[in-house]
Amino acid sequence: MKIGIDKIGFFAPHMYVETSDLAVARGVEPEKFTIGIGQERMAVAPKSQDAVSLAANAAQTILTDEDKQAIDYIIFATETGVDHSKAASTYIHDLLGINPYARAVEVKQACYSATAGLQTARGHIALNPDSKVLVLGSDISRYGLNTAGEITQGAGAVAFVVAKDPRVMAIEPTSVYKTEEAMDFWRPLYSETAFVQGKFSVDQYINFFDDLLQRYQEKTGLHLSDFHALLFHLPYTKMGLKALRAAVEDANEADRERLLNNFNISKHYNAIVGNIYTGSLYLSLLSLIENSQTLQAGDRIGLFSYGSGSVGEFFTGVMVTGFQDHLNTATHETMLKNRQAISVADYEAIFNDKAPVGQVSFEIDTTTDPAPFVFTGVKDHMRQYKHQA
Ligand code: CAA
Repeated sequence: MKIGIDKIGFFAPHMYVETSDLAVARGVEPEKFTIGIGQERMAVAPKSQDAVSLAANAAQTILTDEDKQAIDYIIFATETGVDHSKAASTYIHDLLGINPYARAVEVKQACYSATAGLQTARGHIALNPDSKVLVLGSDISRYGLNTAGEITQGAGAVAFVVAKDPRVMAIEPTSVYKTEEAMDFWRPLYSETAFVQGKFSVDQYINFFDDLLQRYQEKTGLHLSDFHALLFHLPYTKMGLKALRAAVEDANEADRERLLNNFNISKHYNAIVGNIYTGSLYLSLLSLIENSQTLQAGDRIGLFSYGSGSVGEFFTGVMVTGFQDHLNTATHETMLKNRQAISVADYEAIFNDKAPVGQVSFEIDTTTDPAPFVFTGVKDHMRQYKHQA
């Protein structure tokens, strides 16, 4: 039985800052951000968007009533969750009207956890072939103003349905994965921004990729020539490019050219949205499958998932016949095109204008947020969400 991604959707907030403007404001050359880091635009979340509303917005674009009845498991991957105890997926279950007889959980391991969600979903479908699993990866990445990590912020969510006989991509059974305790990036319970040892995190990421790709090749006997594309978790697009360049250094010209060209297509959405942590790898997948002119049914794609701390996995998917008919390319293009550019001063003001922490009740003005699902505030310590379209 083939199991994999049956549908996949994406949502980003309606505002972004040009990274070249940010560079000027920070006194660095714009090319450092656009070429050296490889980021063009950085999504900025208004106060009325959090990990829950972003995920609801991403999921509602792909789910039919039939899906909502068939889904019996919601796995919400995030590292910017809104509650230490209650799973974000319980809100999603309500907001989207999913079948009551469903499991709803939240999973965490930095940017890796949506892949844990995907693999858990595969196991669930293998045991319950007629059900479907909704996997969400949703985050708002915050390092802080004027920090080295600031340019690698972003916000957004990816949602995908895992099912048997998938219509987009079948996940192949073999994968390799690894855990190694490391303090390369983390966010203690008391902090709203992430802590990072930047250079160490880059080394850790590249070492994981090298090790897992080699292990995968040894385990399967597959080579670079067997992959149409290699996709990466992209905290910033240069990160994946660095890892890929090292991997194709000794490859033949055709493999090197194909993998670098396809990487170029796969980084497009990430370059104009920024780091969305758990959803980043799947945003890169979307970028490839929605924008490639050469991708065909039967093509194998390698995916490298990495979450600081650290857990990594290399796995593969094969495109399914007719996958092009089950994408939402136009919706995503329109959403990204309709976003509004804001100044660095406005981005800084939004960054500092945080929802109050610990206040019993407060309301958030949602009138300027065009998103269908919004976070409207807190009532007696209970978060409130609204479907406004
Ligand atoms: N034109 C072109 N390129 C330029 C340039 C210019 N004018 N000026 C500088 N550059 C290049 C540099 O040569 C460098 O290129 P290489 O990486 O190829 O060497 C690149 O721009 C970045 O320059 P620096 O290394 O000097 O950048 P930095 O010290 O300011 O910080 C960073 C970079 C460490 C990634 C920092 O942004 C950071 O800490 N980010 C957060 C951590 C992160 O994203 N780590 C990734 C792995 S961990 C992970 O994946 C999990 C996760 O999501 C967080």
